Amino acid sequence: MKFAHIEQLEKRKKTDGFVLPYWKDNQKTQPAFTYKKGWPSIVDEALASGDFRGNEGETLFFYVEDQPEKRFCLLGLGTKEKMTVEGLRRCYGGLTKNCLSKRLKSLNLVIPEIKNIKEEKIIKGIAEGLFLPNYLFNRHKSLEPEEQKETLLQSVTWIGSFPHTLEIANEVMTICEAVHYTRDLINENADVVTPQYLAVSAQDMASKHPAIKTTIFDKKRIEKEALGLLLAVNRGSALDPAFIIMEYRGNPKSSDKTVLIGKGVTYDTGGLNLKPTGSMETMKCDMSGAAVCLGTMLAVCQLKVKVNLTVVIPTTENGIDAKSFKPGDVYRSYLGKTVEMTNSDAEGRLILADALAYAVKNLQPTRLIDIATLTGAIEVALGSEAAGIMSQSDELAQALTQAGNETFERVWRMPLFDEYKERLKSDIADMKSWNGRSAGANVAAYFLRLFVPDSIPWAHIDIAGTAYVSEAKKYQPKYATGYGVRLLLEFLQNLPQP
Ligand code: BES
Ligand code: MG
Ligand code: ZN
Repeated sequence: MKFAHIEQLEKRKKTDGFVLPYWKDNQKTQPAFTYKKGWPSIVDEALASGDFRGNEGETLFFYVEDQPEKRFCLLGLGTKEKMTVEGLRRCYGGLTKNCLSKRLKSLNLVIPEIKNIKEEKIIKGIAEGLFLPNYLFNRHKSLEPEEQKETLLQSVTWIGSFPHTLEIANEVMTICEAVHYTRDLINENADVVTPQYLAVSAQDMASKHPAIKTTIFDKKRIEKEALGLLLAVNRGSALDPAFIIMEYRGNPKSSDKTVLIGKGVTYDTGGLNLKPTGSMETMKCDMSGAAVCLGTMLAVCQLKVKVNLTVVIPTTENGIDAKSFKPGDVYRSYLGKTVEMTNSDAEGRLILADALAYAVKNLQPTRLIDIATLTGAIEVALGSEAAGIMSQSDELAQALTQAGNETFERVWRMPLFDEYKERLKSDIADMKSWNGRSAGANVAAYFLRLFVPDSIPWAHIDIAGTAYVSEAKKYQPKYATGYGVRLLLEFLQNLPQP
């Protein structure tokens, strides 16, 4: 999407639509801007008709003559006092969806004046609302290539007095492009987005952005490093695993470093504990954690964020084969601890455990964050409204919670009770991987905790309920949401500069 900014209404150029925001005020409407009217009487007629009441997200489109735009669009913002940044995302998200269905490609947009929200946050909220739903995953539909592109909104001219409008809108655009990139990776077929495809994607990014150094371990190297749990999960797959490390140094003078680990199971059949019909069909999404890491890295280096960030992606399919790892068998992890595999569908924690231990030993992390579609249990607990966060560090949990509230990619803290350790005791190995459904998401997180020393702040984000959804929301399409990119970017941008 292209953005332009003008201050005066008279400078408007020809577009498909002119968006005017209105408050709902005691059943009446009130303009959310101070521009003198001077436009056709049909606007007053429309407002007087009662067809449009200014309710949050309400729209009224009508044709006009002798104006730069073909149509006017009145956009309801709801009650003035209640407006929030999230409310703006919802209103303008709905607007974009309307434009997509009407195939409008360009808009002139009067920026609303909102006293209780800072101007930069107003622009940010509107831009996110406009851009996040401006996404289609059409490549498997029989459409002409031009048709696929043409249905998206292409340009917006902002009308208002805030001087940094373009700067902020363009930053939001960069972030949202990273979100769209993440969604594409998740939505594409599992037989396309393989571990090798993720590795090539990482290398591609590094070749375009020299600030990133990428290292890929192939199967041989993974064997040499003895990443035993990743190798165990890979046994049932026809494709080799990969272990991807991407290093970005945005603050070379500092030794502070965030290591971000993403679950990259490119398809989860469940293995020998095969998933039933109804549970498997969405499992191409099981590399969402990896895709979020790639998207976050892309945004971080495009915005030149002054932090040191390393991304680690353990990736494999969890397939099913005569060679599959067998429930009941014991495998040795990278850390050296042995694991009794009690359920082959609990594969995510296995590959993450090896990645966490690898990062602790080799990458000098100041803090560790892993993000994964780890358990169906987190969806039962929190739905698609928030991801679960488990952490032994109150400070890290709090910073991520704050970033979640800011971006509305919310996280909700779940406990890591020490009693969970009992449930992971094994009579034949140092621990078992799974012990039934009770507190499933939390016990899974506790398993990961066994691979991280308490001295390093660590947080686990379970996005199994938020990464891939069966219904569209106000500014979010159906299927891959890209949830996590804006959250992690916000967190990284807010890190204290050491
Ligand atoms: N990939 C799944 C978790 C998942 C569920 C992701 C729903 C996205 C949507 C994970 O590997 C898994 O299979 N978890 C099991 C846990 C159990 C068998 C140990 C689950 O949630 O049922
Ligand atoms: Mg599984
Ligand atoms: Zn899985």
